Amino acid sequence: MAPNNAPALLDLTIDNITPNTNRINSQCKDQRLTYLMERLVTHLHDFARETRLSFDEWMTALNFLVGCGKISDDVRQEFILLSDVLGLSLLVDSINHPKPAGSTEGSVLGPFHTHDAPTLAHGANMASDPKGEPLLCICTVKDTAGKPVAGVKIDIWETDSTGHYDVQHADRDEPSERCVMESDDEGRFWFKGIKPVSYPIPHDGPVGKLLERLGRHCWRPAHLHFMFEKSGWDHLITSLYMRGDPYETSDAVFGVKQSLIVDLDKVDKAAAEKYDIKEGSWLLNHDFVLTSQKETEKLRDEKAVEALGKLGLRMKLVDHLPVPELD
Ligand code: BEZ
Ligand code: FE
Repeated sequence: MAPNNAPALLDLTIDNITPNTNRINSQCKDQRLTYLMERLVTHLHDFARETRLSFDEWMTALNFLVGCGKISDDVRQEFILLSDVLGLSLLVDSINHPKPAGSTEGSVLGPFHTHDAPTLAHGANMASDPKGEPLLCICTVKDTAGKPVAGVKIDIWETDSTGHYDVQHADRDEPSERCVMESDDEGRFWFKGIKPVSYPIPHDGPVGKLLERLGRHCWRPAHLHFMFEKSGWDHLITSLYMRGDPYETSDAVFGVKQSLIVDLDKVDKAAAEKYDIKEGSWLLNHDFVLTSQKETEKLRDEKAVEALGKLGLRMKLVDHLPVPELD
């Protein structure tokens, strides 16, 4: 035995490196971390064995990750981008936030949410881009029984008319095209912005080069981002996508769902007067449906048990997360 009762690691081979790596990691006291590492090592090693991964390919992959690190900073998040284009972000969101029928589905967060958006009163204009086409959004937040949910904090963000978020402008001195609102007693919130446009995700770094090598484009269809937060309610990160966008069915980060595609209307004379916006501006009416934390946790647990059962794994849930059931 090696120090600390670790197994002796000697003469490791293609065939025994995996169980031995897992054995030494299994000294970890954290059951969940042990399980995550056991699965990660097993899948990574199987990947190398199955593909007969070459030394050059392995080095290319490591240099790719180094490149992702080098280009990243507080506002450039290349690793989030990588997770997004690999479909991992959407997958993790879907596992964590299962939705009962009729509730608003989630979508990818992306790297452009910030914490400095101003809190605005209902009806305020969050956009300062004079070239954007004015858009009035009138929304409600309800529960799955149709009851309004008051006091929900709602973060909203979108690009300017050139397809850039404010943080992508080097000379940004204050937040723009983003705000925070709170739903009123009837679950309503309304604001002005601009008609969203399609835009390319940042593609001047390693992730962009990867997409190019894969023959994929880097565009996202036009959308508005929303994040809903209230204690006792499942945290909802979602987006609304404008119907008919050329990238509707080929989003570079897999965020579009049928239920999140919306039609825009035009503001009529009465609404123009009521909401102080030009008649004929774009209009979006949308009702969001939140699920309670309890509802979501129950559904997530049920789905976890079902999925693990299908894989033939003997697991138990600890804090709603699977770990192996040990005899
Ligand atoms: C976004 O919608 O802001 C976004 C999502 C994923 C990657 C890049 C941007
Ligand atoms: Fe976006």
